[in-house]
Amino acid sequence: MRQMVISRHGAPDVFEPREAPTPAPGPGEVRIAVRASGVNFADILALARLRRATIIGTSSSVKHATLRAFGVDHVIDSRTADVAREVEGVTGARGVDVILDAVGGKSFDVSYRLLAPLGRLVIFGVSSVAVGERRSWWHAARALMQMSSFKPMSLINHNRGVFGLNLAHLWSERRQLAVAMRQLLQDVAGGRLRPVVARTFPLEHAADAHRFVQSRSNIGKVVLTV
Ligand SMILES: NC(=O)c1ccc[n+]([C@@H]2O[C@H](COP(=O)([O-])OP(=O)(O)OC[C@H]3O[C@@H](n4cnc5c(N)ncnc54)[C@H](OP(=O)(O)O)[C@@H]3O)[C@@H](O)[C@H]2O)c1
Repeated sequence: MRQMVISRHGAPDVFEPREAPTPAPGPGEVRIAVRASGVNFADILALARLRRATIIGTSSSVKHATLRAFGVDHVIDSRTADVAREVEGVTGARGVDVILDAVGGKSFDVSYRLLAPLGRLVIFGVSSVAVGERRSWWHAARALMQMSSFKPMSLINHNRGVFGLNLAHLWSERRQLAVAMRQLLQDVAGGRLRPVVARTFPLEHAADAHRFVQSRSNIGKVVLTV
């Protein structure tokens, strides 16, 4: 069995190709033949359009035309614009019902302040902690210090909710994951959800795939093929 192993911290060149014995499934287990593996995440944008929400998206400006074509109603350049002011321009004083924030750092605070009454902020990533290929303690520390600590009295008084999500720590919740997965697969089979693949790389080029993601050039998934 071929593997691309990360045995130490570092830039994408720490990937090592290895051969390992093919595991034999034990009682109650199955072995899965992997044909392709995503480097990236689910398509939340589509997981909003199906619900007929008005979508406000942030990205660098080169991606705006594509995001509009995907159904994003309002696009904001996260690198140059005052995101809070632009969002207020769209929603008025009311604010936003659901915010999905994977940027972290000061973005969590901005997002929290933009919530409408009964609004929910889902925090599921901290992209702002990792800038560039090499580890930067300074950037990581700054992003961590800028992060909000949400105050119970503010949550109560503003009728707001904050929800954290990490799929990697959810594997034991099989029953609930199965429900969500069934819904996703039905939407894919029915053509309502169409995964967007930005680019594929052979498994052995996993380091290049990581460089591509870190360059922030992709729109959609980056896939490793086996
Ligand atoms: N919690 C979970 O279970 C889970 C699972 C998978 C992924 N995630 C997280 O979800 C986030 C997105 O993952 P993805 O796979 O969807 O990534 P993706 O498709 O590669 O999109 C990431 C985009 O975010 C923007 N970005 C990157 N760094 C940024 C920064 N410092 N500030 C502002 N924007 C930045 C870039 O676009 P522009 O440069 O155009 O703005 C980049 O292309 C990541 O934070 C990832 O860790 C969480």
